[in-house]
Amino acid sequence: MLKGKVVVLGVTGSIAAYKAADLASKLAQAGASVDVVMTPSATEFVTPLTFRSLTPGSVVVDMFEAAIEHVELARRADVVVVAPATATTIARLAHGLAEEMVSLTVLATKAPVLVCPAMDSQMFENPATQANLETLRARGMTIVGPEMGRLASGRMGAGRLPDSETILGAIRYVLGRGGDLAGRKVVVTAGGTREPIDPVRYVGNYSSGKMGYAVAEAARDRGADVVLVSAPTALATPSGVRLVSVQQAAEMRDAVVGECRDAQALVMAAAVADYQPSATAEQKMKRHTETLSLELTRTPDILAEAGKGFVRVGFAAESEELVANARRKLESKGLDLIVANDITGPESAFDADTNRVVILDRAGGEERLPVMTKYEVAQRILDRVVELLAKGS
Ligand code: CTP
Repeated sequence: MLKGKVVVLGVTGSIAAYKAADLASKLAQAGASVDVVMTPSATEFVTPLTFRSLTPGSVVVDMFEAAIEHVELARRADVVVVAPATATTIARLAHGLAEEMVSLTVLATKAPVLVCPAMDSQMFENPATQANLETLRARGMTIVGPEMGRLASGRMGAGRLPDSETILGAIRYVLGRGGDLAGRKVVVTAGGTREPIDPVRYVGNYSSGKMGYAVAEAARDRGADVVLVSAPTALATPSGVRLVSVQQAAEMRDAVVGECRDAQALVMAAAVADYQPSATAEQKMKRHTETLSLELTRTPDILAEAGKGFVRVGFAAESEELVANARRKLESKGLDLIVANDITGPESAFDADTNRVVILDRAGGEERLPVMTKYEVAQRILDRVVELLAKGS
């Protein structure tokens, strides 16, 4: 989604300016064309040469530089990202000043603007800064961060620039707003549920949640309103996605049923435990006996209970008879699509970043995809969802 997009990165005079170099590099790696504008104080922290070395685009500090017309980058931008944005820059933007290249570019652009504040927490909390941020928000700019943590002053507080991944996610979200899922609500489930045995143990599975998170990100990048119902994972919540955290299958069912009432699509990538302990011990179980039997009870079938009237996509992780088993599930669960993956191959293992899948549809179609990243797989699944939505509407 970033491929071929022009991102104008505005860097201002905060110690976090060095992190903007990483952001520029990641944007360029993702295929964006990156132009950089810097305030003179930003150059005290990091040099224009740093950015020139990381991206082939322009790097402009001087508003009066003859090589490029002063509003050229503002016109060319698909999105303008000010990261880090100091309190001073935020004040300039709120007041429509054009005192240097960053505020000038924001003033002159018609593209969406993302502002990522980074400063000491006392400056951030000051009512002047808060009011200025509110002004920017009211004008439709997207504010990303700041995050809590240790600041350059040594104090703890709100003021840290979010990491590059978070900012990249926010850029993708903003760029995707007009995509082919704009105005559609997509519910995605992810992760492996945990069914408690006692206060310290659970029945779980190896699911990493990566496939479901990739679907959530891809749907966001196409403009959907995404709700991610997630069992515990080690993954960061994607920017621009609403997270509903759950533990057990029963909680996931309740969340999915509630969220699907006004959704247009459900993608069930979660590895839902099929059974849960019939009873959960209130106290930690002791190691007194030689053997221990656990009685398990079947969990609710979430797809079956989720309701109707929206596109329903299931996953089938199989270790044998991939297509036959998946087709049986597609039919018994009445799904529109099922994504079958053979979990025995290294490229489709639970924690892998890639997957090899076959997408089966109701009409008997079988789309065999080569090994690709989970994000690419997610995009292919969503291509099919978009097709189904177009037919249905
Ligand atoms: N699923 C669900 N509710 C459950 C179990 C699974 O909604 N209690 C969903 C999964 O998220 C997945 C699809 O159903 O999208 C298939 O899951 P899978 O575990 O492969 O299927 P099961 O119905 O459990 O079938 P089996 O145990 O026979 O493999």
